[in-house]
Amino acid sequence: MRRKLAAGNWKMNGTSAALGELDKLCTAHPSSPVDILICPPATLLHRAATAVEGSEIAVGGQDCHEATSGAHTGDLSAEMLRDAGASSVILGHSERREDHGEQNDDIRAKARAAMDAGLKAIICVGESLEQREAANTLDIIGGQLSGSIPDQSTGENLIVAYEPIWAIGTGKVPTLEEIGEVHDFIRARLERRFGEGVGRSVRLLYGGSVKPGNATEIFGVSNVDGALVGGASLKADDFSGIIRALENA
Ligand code: PGA
Repeated sequence: MRRKLAAGNWKMNGTSAALGELDKLCTAHPSSPVDILICPPATLLHRAATAVEGSEIAVGGQDCHEATSGAHTGDLSAEMLRDAGASSVILGHSERREDHGEQNDDIRAKARAAMDAGLKAIICVGESLEQREAANTLDIIGGQLSGSIPDQSTGENLIVAYEPIWAIGTGKVPTLEEIGEVHDFIRARLERRFGEGVGRSVRLLYGGSVKPGNATEIFGVSNVDGALVGGASLKADDFSGIIRALENA
């Protein structure tokens, strides 16, 4: 049985005041049958980890460097994230692929570093609107999966997030059939590469305009084990609605 996961990606949002949202989340979910993760900006990571200590909520990073240390101004290693209290790190988000030119090879190297440091790697894949309209979605996703997922992956240290680029922050969501098709494809690819046992144990998240109002139907799709949520994770009330939908799925 895969444990469900509601993950929030705060992106470049939040200063000290945002920690109040974490307090609210802890109060709203003193216990939960699903995993709850918030990935705040790195500046808040340590304080966020302290704020959720002893609760059901975990915190994670939004990126890491592939090296363990060294002359890399402005970067953070996986070990540093772990030291600050992170249990996971988002890697290869389309905004990183786009803003920083990250390629599958870079993401695989980062994922290796994350796993070596004891973090779970949440590896993001997803097609652009152009690619979907050209009926290239599964080819693109297949290439991203084989290029960005390292060989050492297991059901413990790997989570895959399917995030169609055109659905991120736009309010547009693929049909449930489209989500199901990609999630089933990702599952089949993982089983083929890692064997049935490991392939079936990796959690698959859907991301892109998930809101309390559409979460229930998305969580009903096969091979959707949770969500990676951007905008709707910034406010505890909204994210709680999504967590509850997952708890009841
Ligand atoms: P969104 O972002 O929920 O604001 O669409 C999702 C993501 O980028 O992870």
